[in-house]
Amino acid sequence: MTEQIQPVRGMNDVLPAEMAAWHAIETGARELLSGYGYQEIRVPVVERTELFKRAIGEHTDVVEKEMYTFVDQGGESLTLRPEGTAGVMRALISNGMLRGQRHKLWCAGPMFRHERPQKGRYRQFHQISVEAVGYVGPDVDIELIALCARLWRKLGLQRVRLEINSLGTAEARRAYRERLVEYLNAHHDQLDADSRRRLQGNPLRVLDSKNPEMRALIDGAPLLTEHLDPESHEHFQGVCTALEGLGIPFRVNPRLVRGLDYYSRTVFEWITDALGAQDAVCSGGRYDGLIAQLGGESTPGIGFAMGIERLVALLTQGGPCAAPSTADVYIVVSGPRASSFGLGLIERLRDELPGRRFELNLGGGNFKAQFRRADRSGAALAVIVGDDELQRGVAALKPLRRESGQSESPLSALAAAIESALAVAAAQT
Ligand code: HAM
Repeated sequence: MTEQIQPVRGMNDVLPAEMAAWHAIETGARELLSGYGYQEIRVPVVERTELFKRAIGEHTDVVEKEMYTFVDQGGESLTLRPEGTAGVMRALISNGMLRGQRHKLWCAGPMFRHERPQKGRYRQFHQISVEAVGYVGPDVDIELIALCARLWRKLGLQRVRLEINSLGTAEARRAYRERLVEYLNAHHDQLDADSRRRLQGNPLRVLDSKNPEMRALIDGAPLLTEHLDPESHEHFQGVCTALEGLGIPFRVNPRLVRGLDYYSRTVFEWITDALGAQDAVCSGGRYDGLIAQLGGESTPGIGFAMGIERLVALLTQGGPCAAPSTADVYIVVSGPRASSFGLGLIERLRDELPGRRFELNLGGGNFKAQFRRADRSGAALAVIVGDDELQRGVAALKPLRRESGQSESPLSALAAAIESALAVAAAQT
């Protein structure tokens, strides 16, 4: 036998059986975002490598180790997007959409990071990324967090909790960084290899270490929240007070630094204890300096992205979502004449009842096999056309989800008969 081609490690197929959960999240988010005034934007999956280097930061894990970067036939260095924010900001600049205007945008699609794959961490994964540009906050910070909380309620997700922090302005962070470097250098012998590397390029990321042996050292490090500039402090207090007012529980986590360099002031993460190590289902924050850093006119921004695979895992923990039906009406055909007649009949019904989903039994089979397929389709009603019915100019209608009898309708009035049988079936469920 010819050798099979294996999928790429860390890149998954999403199978039809998993789609109900994906659709619940995607549709739930889309409806909610529209209700909050957010509009969809779509940007390319491939961008110039320079964009991500400048936006995310040269000394981040994403840029240093995880990007899918290649040189194209024209000799240009391009990268598969590892996240959505940089591309959306680039699009606002490229299309001249800033000019003092404000934008509420969302963008969904695949992202690529060459991380070590494990449960909840993949090399191709999907995000819904939400961005509010031109708003100084803190009101918009709070509204975005409230939007997330509402989405979790809508999806029935309970085991998610909110952690927030403030990273202050770039200047405050620079001053803090010096103090942190001093502290870490004084304890250099206790740092693991990863932290020593981070200390060189990005010392704040040492605080993000997951190594339990680093815990005590990190707990003793100076706190960024204690070195905030007065405006950032006030901004952060505003966020905390308003969240309390809205009844959204949160925990201030002074060690929350995020893995991308563009953040300033508010940062937040929605964490779950139900998925193991990969516990962030949604993360984001304010990026007031990013647009200027990318060559646009200085404009504040804030946003977040949710990881759809992780939300799907949460949503399906109690078992898969009920398989959705693929048809409202299943047409059972028996006899050679009826089979070819069925093809014309179903097209006519699709014209007459455009809102309904029809499935015609394809590939023959006896009655029993056809009814088994009808049942699996999830249809509420079977329409049966045999040679005998054809001769009499009728079709039989049989409800599939309850034990009630069969009826007949003249073929000329079949569409109306189907509608009323479906209405009766819907009223009974
Ligand atoms: P991020 O924290 O890198 O932020 O990713 C956001 C979310 O994407 C995470 O909370 C997680 O749910 C999911 N995620 C990240 N990496 C993976 C992976 N390898 N496999 C599966 N899921 C993953 C950003 O990407 C920012 N652009 C968010 C943002 C938008 N900030 C402001 N606006």
